[in-house]
Amino acid sequence: MKKFFVVGNPIEHSLSPKLHNYWIKKNNIKAIYEKKKINENEINLLISEIRSGKLSGINITVPFKKSVIELLDELSVESQETQSVNTVYLDKGRIIGCNTDIFGFEQSLIHTKYNPQKKTALILGAGGVVPSIIYVLKKMNIEKLFITNRTKEKANDLKKIFNDIEILEWGDLPQADIIINATSLGLKPEDNINIEYNKIGRKKFFYDVIYNPSETNFLKKGKILGNKTENGKMMFIYQAQKSFSIWHKKNPIIDNEVIKLLS
Ligand code: ATR
Repeated sequence: MKKFFVVGNPIEHSLSPKLHNYWIKKNNIKAIYEKKKINENEINLLISEIRSGKLSGINITVPFKKSVIELLDELSVESQETQSVNTVYLDKGRIIGCNTDIFGFEQSLIHTKYNPQKKTALILGAGGVVPSIIYVLKKMNIEKLFITNRTKEKANDLKKIFNDIEILEWGDLPQADIIINATSLGLKPEDNINIEYNKIGRKKFFYDVIYNPSETNFLKKGKILGNKTENGKMMFIYQAQKSFSIWHKKNPIIDNEVIKLLS
């Protein structure tokens, strides 16, 4: 029986086991997928277990998407360019790192039918998933990208990878067509992001990477003010789909049953 893990810290909230085990069963694959809370010094052991065949693969989440890189033999072009890995597996004796958040975010935008070409975006946050968001928006020909993060140094680190982004002070609000919440503010229903929503205007696109709760206060405010909104559920499903197809060489279907599974 093949064994897979999603590893991170915290990890309790992860719905990856639910989704992967659903697809594993649907596709009659002999495998099991579990979540595991780890500390930084435990990733090494997991990688050696992949090398020895004890484990078949892992998904990596906050806060290890970057730090895992030095333990791997090879990176996909996309993980190299974002310095972010969320999927690991063994291929011909080599440990490979991939980034499927990129596919997830891009497909979720396509799903919403929103085209970021020639638009301006503001990203709130500079955590693990932000390099992937920037990568996709640039690929889709965004015109201008602003990043604002409570800890400015982390936003500045992103500028070392993507030198054409503009870093703003936390709380600054430029004119933007797309506003993306990539902070963890909103995971608790009472969380509020302290921005001047009224200044944003109407008919913009509010995107929240958070999918549980399905409508954060950020999305609620965006909606009330007359904007298009989208949560991170489809991004989550698409990134999982891509990891699944890398590991099992089968593309699992995304239908209403899958979408309902996560609500
Ligand atoms: P990590 O930063 O470890 O990769 P993450 O969940 O991917 O973790 O990112 C959390 C994001 O939410 C960060 O941008 C974080 O800002 P800091 O870099 O300043 O920590 C942001 N965040 C979390 N709590 C916040 C708060 N109370 N106010 C503003 N931003 C917050």
